[in-house]
Amino acid sequence: MNNFIFSIPTTAYFGKGQIEILGETIKAHGGSHVLLAYGGGSIKQNGIYEVILEQFRKTGITHVELSGIQPNPRIESVEAGIAIYRKNDCDFILAVGGGSTLDACKAIAAGVKYSGPVTDLFVDESGISSKITEVAPLATILTMAGTGSELDMGGVITVGEDHKKKVVLHPLLNPKFSILDPEYTYTVPEYHSMAGVADILCHLMEQYFTPEVGASVQDRMNEGVMKSVFEEAPKILANPTDYDARANIMWASSMALAGFQFVLGKPGFPFPLHGLGHELSSRYDMTHGVTLALLTPAWMRHTMRTAPEHLPVFAKFARNVMEVREEDDAKAAEEGVKKLEAFYSAIKMPANLREAGVKADDLDVMAEKAVENGKLGILTSIGKDEALQIMQMAF
Ligand code: NZQ
Ligand code: ZN
Repeated sequence: MNNFIFSIPTTAYFGKGQIEILGETIKAHGGSHVLLAYGGGSIKQNGIYEVILEQFRKTGITHVELSGIQPNPRIESVEAGIAIYRKNDCDFILAVGGGSTLDACKAIAAGVKYSGPVTDLFVDESGISSKITEVAPLATILTMAGTGSELDMGGVITVGEDHKKKVVLHPLLNPKFSILDPEYTYTVPEYHSMAGVADILCHLMEQYFTPEVGASVQDRMNEGVMKSVFEEAPKILANPTDYDARANIMWASSMALAGFQFVLGKPGFPFPLHGLGHELSSRYDMTHGVTLALLTPAWMRHTMRTAPEHLPVFAKFARNVMEVREEDDAKAAEEGVKKLEAFYSAIKMPANLREAGVKADDLDVMAEKAVENGKLGILTSIGKDEALQIMQMAF
């Protein structure tokens, strides 16, 4: 096992009614005049907005707002948030929503403390956002499970005319605290709930499918979380207000990426499926989790075919997670992929890129853009040719 540092500086307040701590906890972190940021308005329809305002009233907190943060959040929302925060002398940021709102707020938190353009703050050659040296205090109220942004130090922002997805990543970006009430996710539409499930699974798989280095604790914990996700997601489809199913999926979301804990001690970056999937979001504004469900089986088969020395890790996944009973590694691995495809179908993900509206003529340029900042992957090295082959297999 490789050396690692494990630190999650975010306090998670998990469960029903945890919103009660909101006002006092913001104050404990020095907040009194808050930038409240949210997306397209779901928090007004499901009543979360009113509960937050009631907390503010009870504890004497004042606030201003940034609304309309879109899925695959744009840099323009970040810039608007920075301007509102500065103009109103805010001292705290509260992000309420899914990964898109949380991510935009992480960039805002860093941007308000930086004098240059916020675009300077994306990950650079050092592997993190090295120009971030100070951030405004940030807390989150998660309303949709999937990205893990609530407990991690990253954010993904869409920039420029070609809608490139850029990452802010720094330990200072971990929220001070996150309120995780599974009941807040009851109103997430089925499509986004299941896209979130696909995202969680992909975070787990990207950390599982690495070279074998004897990190058994990480892999066994990862297998357990994956199994739980496979078991719990269908319960949400059957009953969107199943508290325990929503709670397990929400906690899996947080666990899957918190401190990248299942990749610790393993050689695990860069995540190839996320690198490829982001190009589908850039070109088609496609929902993040859906891009990953579309590409994962193709990437697995491509890796199994071009690097058969890695078959054992796919066979291990098939046996330990998908409950395949087959002794031959190649056959077991393929059965595992088939079972994964059946699961994606059961959670209503599109079957292939064509069904998701992707045009064949776009594959080449997306493959090229996916690797423009360097090759992807850890089991194999994915350049443009390999990226194109994977997309063609997923088409
Ligand atoms: O905008 P509103 O009206 O709130 O509606 C949202 C949005 O339309 C809706 N929604 C959220 N909570 C709801 C709800 N609707 C009803 N009831 C609720 N309780 O769901 C839609 C999708 O929301 P969004 O925030 O876009 O989804 P998600 O959480 O999947 O976030 C996706 C973004 O996160 C990035 C992705 O690239 C993408 O931009 N990621 C962030 C990561 C991180 N920070 O660590 C890692 C991930 O791999 C990912 O890249
Ligand atoms: Zn993801």
